[in-house]
Amino acid sequence: MSESFTPMALSIDENAEVKTFTVTLTKSNRIVEVSNNKPLLKALQEQGINPPHGCGMGICNTCSCEKLTGTTQNMQNKSVCGNNNTALRLCVNAAQGPVSLDL
Ligand code: FES
Repeated sequence: MSESFTPMALSIDENAEVKTFTVTLTKSNRIVEVSNNKPLLKALQEQGINPPHGCGMGICNTCSCEKLTGTTQNMQNKSVCGNNNTALRLCVNAAQGPVSLDL
């Protein structure tokens, strides 16, 4: 018997206004700008930051880090999370405001 998983696609609303927000990385003492239309993992990688990651599609949880503050949106199911001090999968979530991460 075999199991297969089909990851949910990341959906990007082409008509949504693209906004830029600051992401503060508290452990590495860096502040970077990211846009709201791409996952945080990809946005950080484009700036030379390479957080631990695996599948890149929201399954393995390797990219999970603590979001200290801020609002993010899951790009698979569109759920918005404004909770502080919560686990965040960087590969499927985008910033929807200034975000602070324990990275
Ligand atoms: S890299 Fe696998 S869940 Fe994010």
